[in-house]
Amino acid sequence: MKKHDFRDKNVLITGAAGGIGREISAQFAKRGARLLLAGLPSEKEALTELAAQLVKDYGVEARLFTVDLSSKNGPEKLHESVKKAVRDIYALVNNAGTVAYGKVWELPWESQEKTVLVNLMVPLRLMHLFVPDMVKKGEGVVFNTASVQAFQPTPFHSVYCATKAGLQMLSEGIRAELRGTGVSVCTLNPPYTKTAMIKTKGFPKEIRFYKISGIKDPAWIAKKALGAFEKDKFMYIPGLWAKFIHLVLIRFSPRRVVDLVTYHLLKGTKKGGVY
Ligand SMILES: NC(=O)c1ccc[n+]([C@@H]2O[C@H](COP(=O)([O-])OP(=O)(O)OC[C@H]3O[C@@H](n4cnc5c(N)ncnc54)[C@H](OP(=O)(O)O)[C@@H]3O)[C@@H](O)[C@H]2O)c1
Repeated sequence: MKKHDFRDKNVLITGAAGGIGREISAQFAKRGARLLLAGLPSEKEALTELAAQLVKDYGVEARLFTVDLSSKNGPEKLHESVKKAVRDIYALVNNAGTVAYGKVWELPWESQEKTVLVNLMVPLRLMHLFVPDMVKKGEGVVFNTASVQAFQPTPFHSVYCATKAGLQMLSEGIRAELRGTGVSVCTLNPPYTKTAMIKTKGFPKEIRFYKISGIKDPAWIAKKALGAFEKDKFMYIPGLWAKFIHLVLIRFSPRRVVDLVTYHLLKGTKKGGVY
């Protein structure tokens, strides 16, 4: 049963210019939501083009917000601009994210600090800024794009998985705190998906795990995600195989086995250039 009807509701999506965020924005547009699309200043052109396309295809309203969420007061600036443009939002989609691939002690400190900031601190701050109005109104929802990597160690992107595990627990905790307010928090937990993220500088072209998990299409992820969002599913992993690997196999395997297997499967292969 559908719990959320997004028609004519203000929906703010971060990281909307590309990948999963772009496809999620299209799915919200299809449902008649009023789009508030946020991206980096460098993504203004991509955002403008996306907004024009969605307005043309679905006759929706779309507003653009460009801000580097990792900059000083980035989330506060976004909150202020959104509040100036619309009175309140119904849904906040914390989707912007970043990754750095490599061994923790070898990666530049800045890249790891930025991963923690963008993937964990920014969603926390945005929830802190937007949820009070939702509670006052007695309705609203936050969708946090975590990852299946919230449920397993991921050597060579350990900080990334730590942020996603943190975001998962944060979402679950806040959701419980929101009991009885009419506001909820849900997570989307995609497996590897074909977006710019897995082409980030330093990310191997090939890792063995892709052969087991496959690499999903962002449009497929977004379509499945919106079905889950509408039903207010607490946590949603697209795909049965991904559910089995991450919720059953990895969870109940001895940790020594998990160590060995994740090391082997997540290391770049020779073919990929990083090994
Ligand atoms: N792709 C996967 O395999 C995968 C799997 C599970 C979960 N996820 C999650 O899905 C979400 C979307 O990622 P994606 O795969 O669609 O990759 P993506 O195409 O790189 O999208 C991430 C978006 O966030 C933006 N972003 C990064 N830092 C930002 C900042 N400081 N301020 C504002 N925006 C910023 C990125 O801009 P730039 O591109 O300019 O950095 C990009 O537009 C992320 O939270 C990611 O962790 C991805």
